[in-house]
Amino acid sequence: MLQLTGIGKWFQLGTLKVDVLRGVDLEVAEGDLLSIMGPSGSGKSTLMNIIGLLGRPSSGRYLVNGRDVSTMSDRELSVFRNAHIGFVFQSFNLLDRLTALENAALPLVYRGLGRREARRRAAEILEKVGMQDRLDHRPDQLSGGQKQRVAIARALVGTPAAVLADEPTGALDSDTAEEVMNLLIRLNREEGVAVVIITHDPVISMQCRRRTLIRDGVLLEDGDGRAAG
Ligand SMILES: Nc1ncnc2c1ncn2[C@@H]1O[C@H](COP(=O)(O)OP(=O)(O)OP(=O)(O)O)[C@@H](O)[C@H]1O
Ligand SMILES: [Mg+2]
Repeated sequence: MLQLTGIGKWFQLGTLKVDVLRGVDLEVAEGDLLSIMGPSGSGKSTLMNIIGLLGRPSSGRYLVNGRDVSTMSDRELSVFRNAHIGFVFQSFNLLDRLTALENAALPLVYRGLGRREARRRAAEILEKVGMQDRLDHRPDQLSGGQKQRVAIARALVGTPAAVLADEPTGALDSDTAEEVMNLLIRLNREEGVAVVIITHDPVISMQCRRRTLIRDGVLLEDGDGRAAG
């Protein structure tokens, strides 16, 4: 489904070339639950941006459902991203002026779905994340955990192939973090959506069926033989 081969990413700062990702190979299959751990600055968010089609690699090949995304224009890429990827961020990234319902419906509105149908589907998915009693609340009227539930609903509303979560519990207290993690795991199981989670927390990583570690831009997977030692 998601297939990254030999992905490199570097930034040119004056005469200095900064290598951030070096030959990353990663396949994400339907229904996977995968964690990415690694020290600060190791390239996790950079990799997530590439997986999520928010950034382009400097080298390597990336296929999404068999399609080479490197040949797509920015416009094509954003349509493709909207159809296939959902995002959850540490800082929620909800729009302050919109209600929970309107925030969750946003990907469908961008997709050109009618307002009524978009709101109907958003309400459905908000119920799945336990937010049916807060549809008309704006973000500033919600707790951190509730905001993240709305963000998760927004990530899922368009039935993407994969949900990418960059430290989704990083801004939450430990009890709320555990609730949000349990929710992601349940949705992965029940909806069959692949979930990729960046985390610093080994406890969270241990709950994922697949675990990867990134260090200095090199990605290794638990149990693939190369990660030994
Ligand atoms: N636009 C850029 N120009 C130059 N260097 C960059 C740019 N974006 C990221 N980097 C560098 O790439 C490296 C990886 O950054 P990235 O944000 O992916 O790290 P991370 O693993 O997500 O860290 P954290 O755990 O702190 O979020 C860092 O050293 C950073 O300075
Ligand atoms: Mg990061």
